[in-house]
Amino acid sequence: MNQDELKTLVGQAALQYVVPGEIVGVGTGSTVNKFIDALATMKDRIRGAVSSSNASTERLKALGIPVFDSNEVGQISVYIDGADEIDNQGFMIKGGGAALTREKIVAAQSSQFVCIADESKLVDVLGRFPVPVEVIPMATQRLLRQFAGMGGTARVRLKDGRPLVTDNGQHILDVKGLQISDPLRFESEINQWPGVVTVGVFAHQKAAVCLLGTTGGVKILEF
Ligand code: A5P
Repeated sequence: MNQDELKTLVGQAALQYVVPGEIVGVGTGSTVNKFIDALATMKDRIRGAVSSSNASTERLKALGIPVFDSNEVGQISVYIDGADEIDNQGFMIKGGGAALTREKIVAAQSSQFVCIADESKLVDVLGRFPVPVEVIPMATQRLLRQFAGMGGTARVRLKDGRPLVTDNGQHILDVKGLQISDPLRFESEINQWPGVVTVGVFAHQKAAVCLLGTTGGVKILEF
């Protein structure tokens, strides 16, 4: 099976975690797109979704799934999202699709985070994938220096030659060269730097379950 087929497999497998009659939290990315497509097959059995990005909102609506603002709903039972990396404790790096802030907001509103990922995303230590950080543009140059001071190399993410602008109107730094051995501490520390909106380490909002797509089928990891 190729990577795309593994994503389809876990996207479909995630349906078993969707609670009938309720609102489901929906992440962002190519793996989540497979989940959204699968979710359309049971759209008459759910109330709708809270979405973590404009891209997911558009896809959900195009398939006839009602999308609610996060402020319109209370606690959500399940949040389904992909990851750029996940370790064997359920800690993740996310934000490759630039949606990390809204992803963390919906994850924080949800009782259970179900991560869907192909097996290439499983790592021993987080940091091989550059850590995305959403920042206020005014703080960019100082934050680049602060990351350099901790041994990382940060770059402003570009789109068509200009800084990418997130759904929240901010920029993204991608930080290479970090080995994140203590994700909880790392997330807390970076989140305190003035100008950081959200760091793409999901340790306080970690996964409870990971549905990992492998050539042998879906492996369920529980943390
Ligand atoms: C989006 O901002 C990310 O957090 C995604 O969840 C992550 O990049 C995984 O995306 P893919 O499923 O496309 O690999």
